[in-house]
Amino acid sequence: MIRAARPNEIALLPQIENAADERYRRVGLPRILTMPPASIASLEDGRRNGRLWVATSPFDRVVGFALMKLPGGTAWLDQLSVLDRWQGRGFGAALIDRTARHARELGYDTLYLSTYLGVPWNAPFYERRGFSSVPRGAWPAALRQQFLRGNSHGHPTWRRTIMQRRV
Ligand SMILES: CC(C)(COP(=O)(O)OP(=O)(O)OC[C@H]1O[C@@H](n2cnc3c(N)ncnc32)[C@H](O)[C@@H]1OP(=O)(O)O)[C@@H](O)C(=O)NCCC(=O)NCCS
Repeated sequence: MIRAARPNEIALLPQIENAADERYRRVGLPRILTMPPASIASLEDGRRNGRLWVATSPFDRVVGFALMKLPGGTAWLDQLSVLDRWQGRGFGAALIDRTARHARELGYDTLYLSTYLGVPWNAPFYERRGFSSVPRGAWPAALRQQFLRGNSHGHPTWRRTIMQRRV
């Protein structure tokens, strides 16, 4: 099930992000595990503003989440994570759809994100869900800044792209 995050669930989410990221070890990107997860402040801000959703198990345990931000008048999927043993069950796709629906409700026509090229559960996964890469020259200024901020954590720029999907 996908629903809005509750206040007492915020503290769980950085742990979920770190655990989900364990996957990157398998593709030679262990450095992602050393990067800071979404901060409690940004998650709490997302929750208060209705831009943070969780995926839950049948026992209502949080197993994943999506955080949307609105940098410079764009809708941006800032973080998407699903715990390893709950992956492959459609939670990721459902969280994307929930985020896209909210972006549409807010009046946006496009949802953006940045991700890794060539990692099966990143750009190819998003492509199968209707996203396409935005040519570098066409990146809105706010997204270029967002991208650079992410890269300042140590992401190798040449392996990353910004993608968009009409909502
Ligand atoms: C990206 C991520 C959120 C996807 O979550 P998910 O719940 O596995 O997503 P879904 O179940 O909707 O789709 C997973 C895909 O992997 C396939 N899959 C099959 N078995 C799987 C398994 N055992 N484990 C993972 N994926 C599996 C699914 O069939 C599906 O394939 P498709 O794209 O051809 O439909 C998750 O992999 C994750 O948290 N990764 C680490 C963090 C990350 O990369 N975040 C995105 C950063 S931009």
